[in-house]
Amino acid sequence: MSNGSSSGISAVPMGFGQTARRDWWWVQPVAVFLGFSAFVIYATWSMFTPRNYYFGNYLSPFFEPELWGVSPNAWFGARPPMWPSWFIYSPAMLILIFPLGFRLTCYYYRGAYYKSFWADPPSCTVGEPRSHYRGENSFPLIVQNIHRYFLYAALVFVVFLSDDAWRGMWFAKAGGGTTFGVGVGTIILTVNAILIACYTFGCHSLRHLVGGGIDRLSQKPVRRDFYRCVSCLNRKHMPWAWFSLVWIGFADLYIRLCAMGVVTDWRIF
Ligand code: FES
Repeated sequence: MSNGSSSGISAVPMGFGQTARRDWWWVQPVAVFLGFSAFVIYATWSMFTPRNYYFGNYLSPFFEPELWGVSPNAWFGARPPMWPSWFIYSPAMLILIFPLGFRLTCYYYRGAYYKSFWADPPSCTVGEPRSHYRGENSFPLIVQNIHRYFLYAALVFVVFLSDDAWRGMWFAKAGGGTTFGVGVGTIILTVNAILIACYTFGCHSLRHLVGGGIDRLSQKPVRRDFYRCVSCLNRKHMPWAWFSLVWIGFADLYIRLCAMGVVTDWRIF
């Protein structure tokens, strides 16, 4: 695709990185590149490190739900029966595809990583390294349309992560049983569930799902109100995407540091 002036008067082809812009247009793509790269490296390390991922009643959100695993939260047992004995097993391997697939195909993230990783284009009115634009109408990028299906899974994950926060409020008692309480980890897991919910409920696909097929929303008051709520969150979709991304990594790190004895989890009551 050729880049031209935004005035529409002329369309002058530009070489990669060439632009008439004088602002710091490159700061955002570089920041996105560094932020995404750091998260992907950390999340991959965490997935392949299946120890110290729980502490007492806290379970790292990367491992929620824990179908098979070694923590007391595991649903079935330590390891799936069919799992090859020679291959490393981590509970996160079975589930991370859903939240990661949801983020990878998110409309906001697509726009962001197309710019920062593929330079396609690096920014508005900046020359790109390709001469034509294939778009998302053909393979492989047409696969991005799977986003609406990842949304269904993400909605279920909001429930799982809310349950993760709820379990973080119940601490083991000395004589057996559990008692209600709030520790720093409880707050971290609760904020995590809220941020993930705000990100998920502001999804463009969800917005279309609740209001996109109706001509007169005013005649459907329940869907109209839901549509307004989704639209409200959708307006800040980018901040929700980043806050929830950073926080879930932080929650995982906090629980690992507690489990390793590096930090103490303070009980507020
Ligand atoms: Fe971002 Fe659906 S568009 S989560």
